[in-house]
Amino acid sequence: MSEAQKDTKPTLLSGIQPSGHLALGNYVGAMRNWVNLQEDYNGIFIVVDMHAITVRQKPAELRNRCLSFAAQYLAAGIDPEENIIFIQSHVPQHAELAWVLNCYTYMGELNRMTQFKDKAQRHEDNINAGLYSYPALMAADILLYQTDLVPVGADQKQHLELTRDIANRFNKAYSPTFKVPEPFIPKSGARIMSLQEPEKKMSKSDVNENNYISLLDPPDVLVRKVKRAVTDSAREITPDSLQNPGIGNLLTIYAVLNDLSANEVISQFEGHQYSQFKGALADSLVAFLEPFQQRYDKIMAEKGYLTGILDQGASQARYIARKTLSKVYRKIGFVAPGRV
Ligand code: TRP
Repeated sequence: MSEAQKDTKPTLLSGIQPSGHLALGNYVGAMRNWVNLQEDYNGIFIVVDMHAITVRQKPAELRNRCLSFAAQYLAAGIDPEENIIFIQSHVPQHAELAWVLNCYTYMGELNRMTQFKDKAQRHEDNINAGLYSYPALMAADILLYQTDLVPVGADQKQHLELTRDIANRFNKAYSPTFKVPEPFIPKSGARIMSLQEPEKKMSKSDVNENNYISLLDPPDVLVRKVKRAVTDSAREITPDSLQNPGIGNLLTIYAVLNDLSANEVISQFEGHQYSQFKGALADSLVAFLEPFQQRYDKIMAEKGYLTGILDQGASQARYIARKTLSKVYRKIGFVAPGRV
């Protein structure tokens, strides 16, 4: 792609917290869309380690996971030549802009954030200020790069709306500074639920490993997790199965992996035993994840290649981020260094 073409493409930005294990839900809800949209956008994909420490992490695990997540972005098909991939803490402007935006975000707004309420409940012993003000950091992630589109799961819609409010508030108080981003939220049909508790979302940080499919699960584990996934007392697939949380979720996963509509999956499996369908689903998962894992292993075996991509990504990101941040500093009245 020529530089001129690059300049005319809109910017797409997204990030995932390096906590837990990247799960099929992350792939379907986010990464798959990143890969599909990368042709038409200048993509920026971040491993948001600064967000991850709002919940306690083991240092050695966090360090490994950051590299592992970046490698999985690549294995999923993000082209490092065409996109910027980096680790959030390598670009200090995120923390700097987040502080400013904290001063333009109201406590009343943060109080309404359902992810905060949810996480505060799950981590009662550590309801820290970072967990509370985290939406201002997420707004900084997005606004630093004059982002047009943010592909995220439905659970992030509220944070994105707040980002838009903060951007508009700042633009109105001074002059146009930030582009106001649009969310890109995949269709609800592609929402992947927990395997054991299908009324809740599949979460990569679930304490019960049987609730999610990790993108790095080996074939025998995939087979076992699918076998154990909860269904209901019916035994065979009918059109009503789609309405049933357990088997319906498995049918959705099969549809996504095989690029079929829900109805096409039903017509393929109507009258089949659950156990038969589960066998077909496990086969699909293995067929999908095996090549992904091979690409991942190859990337992880070449640490120099991976760190080279991340270094280059961080330096490209800093270049853009510095421009936005210096505008912000100027507008709010900070004295430029060297002119005191
Ligand atoms: N808050 C997001 C989540 O928990 C992760 C995230 C951080 C993000 N910064 C972002 C997503 C910027 C999109 C854009 O999933």
